[in-house]
Amino acid sequence: MMTSPSDKALVPFVSVDNMMRLVHHIGVEQVLIDLASYVENDFRRWELFDKTPRVASHSDVGVIELMPTSDGEAYGFKYVNGHPKNTSEGLQTVTAFGLLADVYTGYPVLLTEMTILTALRTAATSAMAAKYLAPKGSDTMAMIGNGAQSEFQSLAMKAIVGLKTVRLYDKDAAATDKCATNLQGSGLNVVKCATPQEAIEGAHILTTCTADKQNATILSDNMVGAGVHINAIGGDCPGKTELAKGILERSDVFVEFPAQTRIEGEIQQMKDDFAVTELWQVITGQQQGRRDPRQITLFDSVGFAIEDFSALRYIRDKVAGTAYKEDLDMLADPDDPRDLFGMLQRAKT
Ligand SMILES: NC(=O)c1ccc[n+]([C@@H]2O[C@H](COP(=O)([O-])OP(=O)(O)OC[C@H]3O[C@@H](n4cnc5c(N)ncnc54)[C@H](O)[C@@H]3O)[C@@H](O)[C@H]2O)c1
Repeated sequence: MMTSPSDKALVPFVSVDNMMRLVHHIGVEQVLIDLASYVENDFRRWELFDKTPRVASHSDVGVIELMPTSDGEAYGFKYVNGHPKNTSEGLQTVTAFGLLADVYTGYPVLLTEMTILTALRTAATSAMAAKYLAPKGSDTMAMIGNGAQSEFQSLAMKAIVGLKTVRLYDKDAAATDKCATNLQGSGLNVVKCATPQEAIEGAHILTTCTADKQNATILSDNMVGAGVHINAIGGDCPGKTELAKGILERSDVFVEFPAQTRIEGEIQQMKDDFAVTELWQVITGQQQGRRDPRQITLFDSVGFAIEDFSALRYIRDKVAGTAYKEDLDMLADPDDPRDLFGMLQRAKT
């Protein structure tokens, strides 16, 4: 006989549809501001988290990764893929979902889509880093790579850093057209550029967000002048980088978790003892961020589990008591906890 699941069996689930409704209910820019503050708060308590480089399974065409962490009270993980060839097959480069659990019982407390949430948290983290590292008064950004992440990156820089102009370039002009159309009415001044050189003209922040499974040179050494901040997003896997090595030699490099970034980030091109600053230490005031207007700062972003944990916490807080979630019958809950088999037998029709 089938019985309806008890409360203990149910896990709040946020579908893509509900995520989109929730984001519009709050407002995209407000979500980006909120997420940046959740990430910043978790970076402030960096030391108490479990930290490990993400577990990556590579193939010739892409990567599938698991990203776990815990603050001792909650445990979270994200499943995420990265397949640059996917867009040519009508699929996305990056898709994700994630789960948050209660450390005391081990029971999941949230299951959610994270494809949209990853774009939001990546952009929020970039803008949070730029707040500490970009030159004062940065109002112009070059956005190189105008794919799925690009509008999110642009809007986060607007909401958190005060960006006014974004200069778009993609090797595929259709991507630039798509991004420009999507940003219409956002309040940003959007300039479509025909070359990466044109895109970086007058830009204080250079964001690289391309997808290619190779060591690419999106920015060459001679393209980067003094006094800019580079927000390098697309180099996030072994053998997948975007910047010429010479740029790294001239920059002060800021990273999330060095043990992971040395494997996956732009700095995989450098020796293991190449000096980097951990972003969380800038936020807590233990290390300096930007100290001089002529300095080149580089956020070598690869995406770290704590940022996803922050995003999961945010969604848990926002959907509690709302209709932006469904209850999923996900955990078997026998009346007698040890009688799992009896529960199965009783369900026989
Ligand atoms: N650091 C992080 O936390 C993080 C998070 C999410 C995604 N990513 C990475 O960001 C990158 C972009 O992700 P997406 O979802 O926007 O991918 P996407 O495939 O939707 O877009 C990538 C864009 O880059 C363009 N491109 C590729 N090579 C180029 C080149 N040489 N010059 C100019 N443009 C070029 C493509 O035409 C495409 O429009 C991926 O590499 C992804 O792995 C990083």
